[in-house]
Amino acid sequence: MTDWSAVRALFPALEKQVYLNTAGGAPIPRRTADAGKRYYEQTFRDGDVHWDEWLQQVEETRRKAAALLNTSPVNVAFMSNCSAGLNIAAHMLRGRGGVITLADEFPSCTLPWLQLGFEVTFVETDRRGHVSIEEIEAAITEETGVLVISHVQYKTGFRHDLTGLGRMCRENGLAFVVDATQSFGALPIDVTAAGIDFFVTSSYKWITSGYGVAILCIGDAYLKSEAFPAVGWRSAAEPYAMIFDRLDLSEAASALEQGHPPFAGVMSLSASLDLVELIGIAQIEARILELTRYMRDRLGEHEIGILSTTDPDHLSGITIVDVANPQAIVAYLKKRNIITSTRGDGIRVSLHYFNDYEDIDRLVEELVTVVDAGIDAVPETH
Ligand SMILES: Cc1ncc(COP(=O)(O)O)c(C=O)c1O
Repeated sequence: MTDWSAVRALFPALEKQVYLNTAGGAPIPRRTADAGKRYYEQTFRDGDVHWDEWLQQVEETRRKAAALLNTSPVNVAFMSNCSAGLNIAAHMLRGRGGVITLADEFPSCTLPWLQLGFEVTFVETDRRGHVSIEEIEAAITEETGVLVISHVQYKTGFRHDLTGLGRMCRENGLAFVVDATQSFGALPIDVTAAGIDFFVTSSYKWITSGYGVAILCIGDAYLKSEAFPAVGWRSAAEPYAMIFDRLDLSEAASALEQGHPPFAGVMSLSASLDLVELIGIAQIEARILELTRYMRDRLGEHEIGILSTTDPDHLSGITIVDVANPQAIVAYLKKRNIITSTRGDGIRVSLHYFNDYEDIDRLVEELVTVVDAGIDAVPETH
């Protein structure tokens, strides 16, 4: 049995506020902050003498990330952000045909393909984010070559079935690109079982490791160096041979890092991956879903609606609460130290494993107060 209050105590940011905005950006645990600080402290004290050690730590983190995703370290690259990884995917898929994605996807899932002149088809979803695999499949034409989708949608919290989508992609010969920024660290993901060709995630949300690093994971079929759109000294098969007058490139995904990876970010990520390993990703998912169901029941008791799916197969840590004037209510909640955000047509509430029942009770209590007071009369607080 996980001691959730001990886990919560690892996140000091939760002491002074009700933090319900992991979908925007999560607080980080003490160990993660310490890992990043340790790198800066070392270079502050000693200069570059720990360089070998830092590079070893990067490889160790690569192994940890690969293990959590059920892939091999050779398939994993570190980027500075998720959008950079999606751009690499778009460049490597040039000539593959048109792209299918969803209407209202996160812009970094669509803009790189539009920028490169891909024909992009946007499949509509309903207001709660629902779209079936069959509806997506129906949009495929002879020209289609790629599906780009977020595992969990940032505006609705709708969680897609990666295994089913992956199967559909294979049956139709599509490359499968997944942005897991709203699920990595919260829900189990098996890149191999789902047949994901390009997997990308940021690290400052559900994996709780702050800004500055992202993960790009590329399937074996695409690890061909002639297709790499950007290379540098660390892309070489033997980087320390310093060969500059001919191409002899590595075919590991790390070649796409080009130069040094962002050390501090990678080290922080490493500490957060350890925490996920310690708690267990299945336990984390179960906790998130348990808290999400509790919140929805409590809202239901007060007849406050939601704009997210209620289908248990598609739940995530994100719920959009249906209120008029969400901006004013988010601002009101903030004054009461309850941190949420506006997305979709309501308030986006994110519940992570470090939240608890009391957080939810506080939120519901305040929401009931403002809803009862009438939306145009959001009480002023000082
Ligand atoms: C689905 C999704 N992808 C990507 C991002 C942004 O990632 P980055 O800033 O690392 O490129 C966000 C941020 O909200 C997101 O929700």
